[in-house]
Amino acid sequence: MCGIVGYIGVNDTKEILLKGLEKLEYRGYDSAGIAVMNANGVHVFKEKGRIADLREIVALDVMANIGIGHTRWATHGVPSRTNSHPHQSSSKRFTLVHNGVIENYDLLKREYLADVTFVSETDTEVIVQMIEKFVYEGLDVLEAFRKTLTLLHGSYALALLDEQNSDTIFVAKNKSPLLVGLGSDFNVVASDAMAMLQVTNEYVELMDKEIVIVKKNEITIQNLDGETVTRTSYIAELDASDIEKGTYPHYMLKEIDEQPAVMRKIIQAYQNEQGELTIAPEIITAMNNADRVYIIAAGTSYHAGLVGKQFIEKMAKIPVEVHISSEFGYNMPLLSEKPLFVFISQSGETADSRAVLVNIKEMGYQSLTITNVPGSTLSREADHTLLLHAGPEIAVASTKAYTAQLAVLAILADVTAKSRNLDPGFDLIHELGLVSNAIEVLCDSKELIEHISREFLAVTRNAFFIGRGIDYYVGLEGALKLKEISYIQAEGFAGGELKHGTIALIEDGTPVIALATQESVNLSIRGNVKEVVARGANPCIISMKGLNMDEDSFVIPEVHELLTPLISVIPLQLIAYYAALHRDCDVDKPRNLAKSVTVE
Ligand code: M6R
Repeated sequence: MCGIVGYIGVNDTKEILLKGLEKLEYRGYDSAGIAVMNANGVHVFKEKGRIADLREIVALDVMANIGIGHTRWATHGVPSRTNSHPHQSSSKRFTLVHNGVIENYDLLKREYLADVTFVSETDTEVIVQMIEKFVYEGLDVLEAFRKTLTLLHGSYALALLDEQNSDTIFVAKNKSPLLVGLGSDFNVVASDAMAMLQVTNEYVELMDKEIVIVKKNEITIQNLDGETVTRTSYIAELDASDIEKGTYPHYMLKEIDEQPAVMRKIIQAYQNEQGELTIAPEIITAMNNADRVYIIAAGTSYHAGLVGKQFIEKMAKIPVEVHISSEFGYNMPLLSEKPLFVFISQSGETADSRAVLVNIKEMGYQSLTITNVPGSTLSREADHTLLLHAGPEIAVASTKAYTAQLAVLAILADVTAKSRNLDPGFDLIHELGLVSNAIEVLCDSKELIEHISREFLAVTRNAFFIGRGIDYYVGLEGALKLKEISYIQAEGFAGGELKHGTIALIEDGTPVIALATQESVNLSIRGNVKEVVARGANPCIISMKGLNMDEDSFVIPEVHELLTPLISVIPLQLIAYYAALHRDCDVDKPRNLAKSVTVE
């Protein structure tokens, strides 16, 4: 979603800001802009489209040592140059970039700014105009900034330039992520550390409702009452090369290929010196104290949760419910007496999930976040965190985070089971090793999978994924992957459910991708395939070795039955990748989507 960068120092800021925005491109955006300030005033450059389009219009001869930049993912008003950030106050004294959503912007407009002519349709412009209004009424800029913030309802990460304070970037945050990065003779602002890794890896985290006065050689953090807050910095454990594509044409392909290594990293990270799987005892206690686990997540993470339910129920014998976070928020089920909430989120920033976390914390319940991003909002705010160790995932389509989520959920189930003297029935470390090898084999079968993708999806408008039990959940994920990057309308269904309605959509040549990795339902899913074939469908059966038959299109290596989602998803990820590629779609940055969905 939207991204923010800012720089104040001794170097020219344009290239630093533009490079920073390029690092945030993966988050999804539809327009971008920068504002730089020098002795001649503030110069704003903004454009609809890509950073490359913005680069074309940035005047190279404008030199400045202070500036802010933004990538916008439209919420209020269409994607356009006018609606893109930075936005300026009427006199152009103040210039602002904003991530988040101001829920009461219309009310504020009517109450405080009735005489102001607005240029854009955004909620952001209201903020910058209010700051100017309060300054006209006699407040100094900091007081005006603070007063404005106290009137805002909603989420914001803000960076503000004031023409009359040319040595300062004013920063504030509430619910939307924002960091201040430290350097020698410069400081930076970023909504994601990755953006400014080019200049520093030392960051200071900001809490909700804090203001930061950022100067070249110092930063001052204050709360909304104007009291100074002290906070130590941390080193972002990110390797700049992790966020480069290297020789890969797309991040998605690189991240698919990284999955065997991620598996090995997870096994290592969760192993103790005796070579046993281990998880912080307080997390295992929280699991054991719960009479029911509620998994809360969105998108791919929700699909991981569905599989995680199987792991926890089958291995640790604790009942689990899995909920879509945006639904749970306003439609809470009757809770058990001692619930434990488990939030699964690659980014750790998904606003829908965070809204649930805030709510259940107020109700006094325990929470665990499973995330890829240490220090992310969901990680900070939950009682406990388990990390995915998948390395930065840049492609919008989640791949390695999904398999990492499954592996960590399996480890959580395994360690919990053993703490309850239950025998999970297999050696998980050994089995995850086999999974890692199997993923490697699948990643080496790209040619065949590309061929399958062409054969089944070259010209189709739609596609169906079917499976039974755990295969059904993987089918849901396969369908999501395909639709989000190739724009083929794809749906996942439980094999037995097709005949209750969806089979009406099967026409001559409709692709139906069926998963057959579970012995107990192997014959039934094949029966479902026959039903659709009789109506003209073009079937692609992906089965597991040992259960395969002559008619199958692709056979995955054999792993433990419960762990098959970790590998049956790989051909589905690759099928989606090649379908998007053949259709000339922007694989890593699909239209309308954002990597980290920070608005509800
Ligand atoms: O960061 P999160 O895991 O909380 O994100 C949830 C979804 O937005 C995400 O999984 C989305 O569905 C992916 N783009 C799917 O590939």
